[in-house]
Amino acid sequence: MDDARTILTEKEIDLVILDYELGETDGITVLKELKSEYPHVLVIMLTAYATIHLAVEAMKLGAFDFIQKEESTDITRYAVQRGLDHLRLRKEVEDLRIKCKEENSLPDIISVSSEMQDVLQLAKEFGPTDTTILIGGETGTGKNLLAKYIHFNSLRFNDILVTLNCAAIPGELIESELFGYERGSFTGARKEGKRGLIEQANKSTLVLDEVSELNFDLQTKLLHVLENREFYRIGGIKPVKIDVRFIACSNANLPEMIKAGRFRSDLYYRLNVANIQIPGLRDRRMDILPLTKYFVDKYNQTFKKTISRIDKEVETFMLSSRWHGNIRELRNYVERGILLAKNDRLELKNMLSNNQLDQLDVNEEVEPTFVIKLNPKPDLNLLHEVQNKLVGQALEITEQNRSSAARMLGVPRTSLNHYIKRAQSGYSSTQQAGD
Ligand SMILES: Nc1ncnc2c1ncn2[C@@H]1O[C@H](COP(=O)(O)OP(=O)(O)OP(=O)(O)O)[C@@H](O)[C@H]1O
Ligand SMILES: [Mg+2]
Repeated sequence: MDDARTILTEKEIDLVILDYELGETDGITVLKELKSEYPHVLVIMLTAYATIHLAVEAMKLGAFDFIQKEESTDITRYAVQRGLDHLRLRKEVEDLRIKCKEENSLPDIISVSSEMQDVLQLAKEFGPTDTTILIGGETGTGKNLLAKYIHFNSLRFNDILVTLNCAAIPGELIESELFGYERGSFTGARKEGKRGLIEQANKSTLVLDEVSELNFDLQTKLLHVLENREFYRIGGIKPVKIDVRFIACSNANLPEMIKAGRFRSDLYYRLNVANIQIPGLRDRRMDILPLTKYFVDKYNQTFKKTISRIDKEVETFMLSSRWHGNIRELRNYVERGILLAKNDRLELKNMLSNNQLDQLDVNEEVEPTFVIKLNPKPDLNLLHEVQNKLVGQALEITEQNRSSAARMLGVPRTSLNHYIKRAQSGYSSTQQAGD
């Protein structure tokens, strides 16, 4: 028995054949011990004097099988084979579960700023309902990522998320992509017909990306689907009922498009049951450095690098850029910086092309320093001069958003208001302003 214990501690054992007659102890006691220490080991009990009572007890304690000694070796071999098959299946299910979890897991969304936390809060609240959602926001702000996040926060998370990019497919093909067609419904159609994306998304979620690009005819057809929860395949005469959750994404100003007669207002109201607007990166600068670090880790893994330091110059550039391309633009800079890195640092010269670097020198918005002439005059408060310049720069970077500027400067908003008032009144004497 001691030998068996040593083997169990030294090797990874899958299956144990355990004799009930063990001299100083009995098989049931050892079975209990085994199952508590090695719950995954399969145990086949072997006994000369089988009784129903013993068999039931062994099975209750977790034995996989129970066989009598006098039975043929074939029976024993069969029991072992069944045990090994069981183990293999168990391993396969476990692998599948891990894979499924990886593929279907919530996407990483970096959200340090309160603006982004509000967005995620809304997404979590709307997630489990079946409400149609319209996600707005500039290009690269993470609309598709958020749509994925909502899907995985819904009860439909187990089914595949289906996406139609309305801008990437020519208008005349969108209809057959979306609705599919009956067999032989038009020249060039596949003989067996085709299931459209709406049908593929049944019981799941369909993301209509860049929904503003749908032409008027398709807008009308989509409205019918949203209102009646049914659609017609091209060439079909019977409506098909569906259970789909719709999420639309758009970086266009849909109300403006409605005014210009390019988007149906009734469709807009159907899509806009719940609305989530993702703010641009310049309006949540708190997220810039955490996002930079996140992408450094990500591309370290992708390119097998070990960048562990971010240059001060990079931080300044990141914090003061305008980010018209938002997170996608930031991601691209970091990707380039990691790919081209020759040491353990993220350097600006690797992130930007020569052209971009040249432009930086003349681009005041990313100029991290400013010059104050140390030219004291009796009525000049140099400290206030510096403060005024800093405040001006922070307001410029945040496009006059006082809350963001105050956060950037690390002062309460009330103090910022005071500095602005003081600067506006041209006050810069040596007088103390209580600040
Ligand atoms: N908060 C975030 N955290 C981590 N990654 C993000 C975040 N937001 C966006 N990303 C990443 O930025 C990239 C752009 O995001 P996404 O494609 O969702 O933007 P979009 O708003 O749909 O852009 P477009 O309007 O151009 O389609 C993606 O690689 C996405 O994973
Ligand atoms: Mg998108």
